[in-house]
Amino acid sequence: MKKNILKKFIGIALITAISVSFVGCGGNKKASEETLNKIKDNGKVIVGLSADYAPYEFHAVIDGKDEVVGFDIDLAREVAKDMGVDLEIKEMEFDPLIGALKAGQIDMIISGMNPDEERKKQIDFSDIYYEAKHGVLIKSEDKGKYTKVEDLNGKKIGAQLGSTQEKIAQEKVKDADLQLLANVNNLVLELKTGKVNALITEEPVANMVIKTNPELVLSSIKFEDEGGGNAIGIRKNSPKLLEQLNKTIKRLKDSGELDKFIVNANDLAAKNQSNS
Ligand code: ARG
Repeated sequence: MKKNILKKFIGIALITAISVSFVGCGGNKKASEETLNKIKDNGKVIVGLSADYAPYEFHAVIDGKDEVVGFDIDLAREVAKDMGVDLEIKEMEFDPLIGALKAGQIDMIISGMNPDEERKKQIDFSDIYYEAKHGVLIKSEDKGKYTKVEDLNGKKIGAQLGSTQEKIAQEKVKDADLQLLANVNNLVLELKTGKVNALITEEPVANMVIKTNPELVLSSIKFEDEGGGNAIGIRKNSPKLLEQLNKTIKRLKDSGELDKFIVNANDLAAKNQSNS
């Protein structure tokens, strides 16, 4: 009798062990499964971004309808087209984008993101699709006051939370009194109302801001980008997806379409802002 129970016990233990290891395998397979396959199975790609960054991605009223537009959106559309799937844009703040990607809530980040070393430890990046320096926005009346990096020392510097510009302010400006906000549009307001002395953004974004805010100018201070430009962020271990994205980027660069997207986005942003 005792022997039987033991046998039964061993049997159950064995079955459990075997099924656990099966589930384990299944789990592993899932985790490492190519994102490209997953996207194709779903029939859509979910792109995460923070739409506060004209001309990259921003809200505009098109034919009476509020839409998210910009050259990142045009790029996203081409990415989806080349994969033969629909595009879903998921708007969120910039800082949580990498967490959302890692958690599988989005399939990729197209949000003017720079592949810096710290981020590269967590996620992978496509080839660079756009290169820009970082500019410093100031009030026009301060134009003579801020002409070199040292002039920013100890000042109230605005930057988007979790952005490259946050790092630049920390590393390049001595004793910067950092004012970090989740949304770039709110940072512009802070600069206009004098709550910050200077605001760092990518140069094309700064150029867009001054077009519609005559009280602001771009200072002569520039910061080079150490990440080499903007790229698409994806989860690690997705070589097929990476290859696919790089193909799309190359196609758009070679054909000159990407340049057109950039010109269009700038026009659209300028028009949209003058309407609002
Ligand atoms: N290029 C900077 C970075 O990678 C800022 C990007 C901000 N993008 C945005 N959509 N707000 O951190």
